[in-house]
Amino acid sequence: MKLTQEIKASLQKHQKVISIQMDVHHINSFTQKFKKFIFKGSRWYQEEQNIKSINTTFKEPFPDNLLQFMNENNCQTREKEVLVGYEDLSYNEVLSQLIPQNIQPPQGFEIIGKIAHFNLSPEQLPYKYLIGQVLLDKNKNLQTVCNKLEKLHNVYRTPQLELLAGKDSYDAVVNEGGIKLNLNFEKVYWCTRLYSERERIIKFIKELSKDQKIQVLDLFCGIGPFSLRIAKDLDAQCIANDLNPECFFYLKKNITENKLQNQVIPLNMDARDVVLKIYDKQLEFDFNHVYMNLPVLAINFLDVFKGYTQKTGKVELPYIHVYGFAKGKDEAELIDQFQQRIVQCLPGFEKTQILNFHILKNVTKMKKMCCLSFQLDKRSAESDFGLLEQQDENNNSDFEDDEKDEENQQIEEVINKKVKID
Ligand SMILES: C[S@@+](CC[C@H](N)C(=O)[O-])C[C@H]1O[C@@H](n2cnc3c(N)ncnc32)[C@H](O)[C@@H]1O
Repeated sequence: MKLTQEIKASLQKHQKVISIQMDVHHINSFTQKFKKFIFKGSRWYQEEQNIKSINTTFKEPFPDNLLQFMNENNCQTREKEVLVGYEDLSYNEVLSQLIPQNIQPPQGFEIIGKIAHFNLSPEQLPYKYLIGQVLLDKNKNLQTVCNKLEKLHNVYRTPQLELLAGKDSYDAVVNEGGIKLNLNFEKVYWCTRLYSERERIIKFIKELSKDQKIQVLDLFCGIGPFSLRIAKDLDAQCIANDLNPECFFYLKKNITENKLQNQVIPLNMDARDVVLKIYDKQLEFDFNHVYMNLPVLAINFLDVFKGYTQKTGKVELPYIHVYGFAKGKDEAELIDQFQQRIVQCLPGFEKTQILNFHILKNVTKMKKMCCLSFQLDKRSAESDFGLLEQQDENNNSDFEDDEKDEENQQIEEVINKKVKID
């Protein structure tokens, strides 16, 4: 269903309003007190010399403060009929008239620069173009409205988007914590709502590091929000790496535009290779924090830190902040799952090393996205078993399959509330 001129015209109707008439000298004081009751789009109408009127949304009986104002300033009221159409109605008012009552107009969407993106439910899909066009018309700051077609299944975690209304362009500029980030929402991973999670980890790293110089290996960096922010906020040195060449393009641009060339080194390779190159001294970089934000697979890369001490000659062990999905009814069960998976990669890992466990969001009732922070254990770091075979990247398929089933399940966002429509 598309928004046609006929559909817009069908929304036109006459509506009764209360017009209030007063001496022009009282207009400012009336507007200050009762601005929110002025009928949308209504202008002051010249009734006679020095007398103007305005249409309002007041209904009888009038509130006491209005009655008092009218008495004090000798105002008159009159009932009037006005023609109300598409332009005068809000997003919710339009959609609640155009889509069936049993279907909720979508109330949450994410804004990325001038792009708004929905995750429409199957019942809302037949009305997707209508929803998109109304949102665009009612938000002058937007240029593009799209819908995310499915969950992120590909290696680069990029979404499949369908244009609903506006410009077919997914270039965006986002400001986060004083950093300017360029991106293309179709070509790279981006999630505005991870803002508070980046804040949390930066604060936590600051506490852990005391006054020590912070050196971060950001192995799955996307377009670089974490590295750029920690470089700016904590004067950290970072390697920011992502396998996606499009991320690399924007990462370099973002480093340059934020003038962080001396602190952030951009790389475009497999995460495991970055660490191996550091071990081989092909890359010179000492790190004391590893940030691993690829929830679907990151834990499988942990085996690369086995034998860390022999390979680097360093006794001080790095802190690792690793994301993952786990299923459980409470934190203890979730931690158990993380532990079982981590121990396959780092045989010496024990729960006592956990410094922080944080649940970011409930994907379903049982499945959560979490972040576990720990310090690499001495036994794994000193182990001479060498690297394990590369972990089977499908051994997380349980979780991938679940993601497909999730389409109809309510996703309970707890990172941050989605932007609400007025
Ligand atoms: C969930 S995103 C996280 C991006 C970033 N941390 C952020 O907050 O915006 C994961 C990123 O990992 C990258 N990626 C996937 N497999 C990778 C690998 N083997 N090595 C390096 N990066 C990889 C993807 O391209 C994607 O940009």
